[in-house]
Amino acid sequence: MTEPLLRIEDLTVRFRDPNREGGTLTALDGVSLDVAPGEILGLVGESGSGKTTLGKTALRLHEPAGGRILLRGRDIAHLSEAALRPHRRAMQMVFQDPLSSFNPRQTIATAIATPLLLHRLCSKAEVRARVLAILEEVGLPAAFAPRFPHQMSGGQLQRAAIGRALALSPDLIVADEAVSKLDVSVRAQILNLLRAVQRRSGLAMIFITHDLHVARFLCHRVAVMHFGKLLEIGPVEEVFDRPRHDYTRALIGTLHSPAAKQGNAP
Ligand SMILES: Nc1ncnc2c1ncn2[C@@H]1O[C@H](COP(=O)(O)OP(=O)(O)OP(=O)(O)O)[C@@H](O)[C@H]1O
Ligand SMILES: [Mg+2]
Repeated sequence: MTEPLLRIEDLTVRFRDPNREGGTLTALDGVSLDVAPGEILGLVGESGSGKTTLGKTALRLHEPAGGRILLRGRDIAHLSEAALRPHRRAMQMVFQDPLSSFNPRQTIATAIATPLLLHRLCSKAEVRARVLAILEEVGLPAAFAPRFPHQMSGGQLQRAAIGRALALSPDLIVADEAVSKLDVSVRAQILNLLRAVQRRSGLAMIFITHDLHVARFLCHRVAVMHFGKLLEIGPVEEVFDRPRHDYTRALIGTLHSPAAKQGNAP
């Protein structure tokens, strides 16, 4: 077996409980899983089960209370912000609401160019050509470069957000409900785009979704979260066709209705 890109071991994350002075709540409780290079791992489970917390902690946007986060074998669980800096480029996040993830006063070209220059991935002379190439890669014509976020549709902005993440040639992208706010027709286009860029670049993805049809369409393996614990994990067909837990069975119940069986595209 190839070495995992990301190995999470016994990960526990606690937050201050807003309802109890001095109290904490455990958002993740002893979660272990691997992500292989080039793999799309789906994270499913009901609201509050810890999906976003797991995705963000994997990228060290939260510091865990316990456990290890091995990125190519190196434990980043407790690295300082300065020590994390060289790893940040390799780990990117795409959020649900593209409008709020862009600066409203920055053009799309600037939004993509800034991290490229910051990480010294290209020179000032090259940056415009690089930005246009990235826009093309995510299916946006050059005419979008000078636009501001509010001058674009949700689908176009999500393309730009994917482009901005891809520009840094990450090894791992965490996409958190990245298509949930889009219209159904646009959703299929963005899913196809994600699948295409993943195949082309070979990056790995943790794809967080409420929508099991989407998970089935896009992901190689799927992990089912429940109250901060990992309930089961396995190849998509295995988990969806032969779930081990009653909870998973209930969660996927709707997938197997006759209407849901027609075609597997979301
Ligand atoms: N920054 C935070 N401070 C305090 N509690 C938090 C914080 N972030 C998440 N939580 C709590 O941790 C638990 C897990 O939340 P999380 O956002 O990871 O769930 P989720 O599975 O992503 O849910 P959803 O599907 O609604 O996005 C919840 O009980 C939530 O209230
Ligand atoms: Mg979430």
